[in-house]
Amino acid sequence: MNNKTCLITGATSGIGKSTAIALAKLGFILILTARSDDKGFELVNKLQKKYKVQAEFIKTDISSLKEVKQLSEQIKQKYGRIDVLINNAGSRFADYKKSVDGIELTFATNHLGHFYLTLLLIDLLKKSSSARIINVSSSAHLGKSIDFENIANPKNYERREAYGQSKLANVLFTYALARQLIKSEITVNALDPGGVASNLGRNDGLISWTKHIGYYLVKRELLTPKQGAATSVYLTSSPKVAGVTGKYFYLKKEKKSSPESYDEEAAKKLWDLSLKICGMEDQTI
Ligand SMILES: NC(=O)c1ccc[n+]([C@@H]2O[C@H](COP(=O)([O-])OP(=O)(O)OC[C@H]3O[C@@H](n4cnc5c(N)ncnc54)[C@H](OP(=O)(O)O)[C@@H]3O)[C@@H](O)[C@H]2O)c1
Repeated sequence: MNNKTCLITGATSGIGKSTAIALAKLGFILILTARSDDKGFELVNKLQKKYKVQAEFIKTDISSLKEVKQLSEQIKQKYGRIDVLINNAGSRFADYKKSVDGIELTFATNHLGHFYLTLLLIDLLKKSSSARIINVSSSAHLGKSIDFENIANPKNYERREAYGQSKLANVLFTYALARQLIKSEITVNALDPGGVASNLGRNDGLISWTKHIGYYLVKRELLTPKQGAATSVYLTSSPKVAGVTGKYFYLKKEKKSSPESYDEEAAKKLWDLSLKICGMEDQTI
């Protein structure tokens, strides 16, 4: 037991699941979330039996603000502090869809739910002597900018744009949060896990998924979920990144993200919009 508590969203598959297994081996106390409770409970049982760790699964749809609020309340009741928050859950959708709150589903899943969760848990993170927040972004953010007028416009929906913008939102949020927390003990970093043979894109059918895998396979850059989780595990546990904040990592190395991701005005717009949708206009960090 290393006595540190880590919350991982999207822990039932791919990168999140491999991250959970690696952190169980390191003795972290784990809180795992996703929507599939069958997969969640099976994983928790496996981790408890194999690695003798304290682990629990809390079923949550991260795209639902109500469910995120419930998750944060359950956690606050049970845990005195959180040491690591890995905002990992993610999805992409071929067609325009809305969350239960009426928000475009890619934005709601990949950005908004995690923004809300992070702010709801910030006091628990502040209780740790060296908390780390890790946002799983993607190289898909490159070349994108957030079209604030059209986030909710079904007429202009394009899957790659929506996914890329949500992943840019992950990086803008990372840098904005790191700036706000600069005087605290909390570090905030983003990462690109690389091209990973996970279930990402499976919800859009076999063709979409095969194209995703094939793209990285042809480039000879396809990673296993375990390899894809390596940067998340590194940022969670390595002493080499203690105190490092507001950075973007790829294959365990610091890297520049896109020029658009350093736009502080866009970050402020995104922050204010997210606060407004979450009904948290009065929230200060
Ligand atoms: N695979 C890649 O090549 C790649 C590349 C760059 C970045 N990424 C990023 O890596 C992260 C992990 O993706 P992955 O590749 O491991 O995909 P994955 O195998 O599809 O896993 C996604 C995880 O997120 C959960 N999830 C999806 N929608 C959710 C929702 N609405 N509420 C709660 N949980 C939800 C899924 O569980 P349930 O279905 O049970 O909810 C699953 O545990 C994502 O943020 C993705 O954008 C992946």
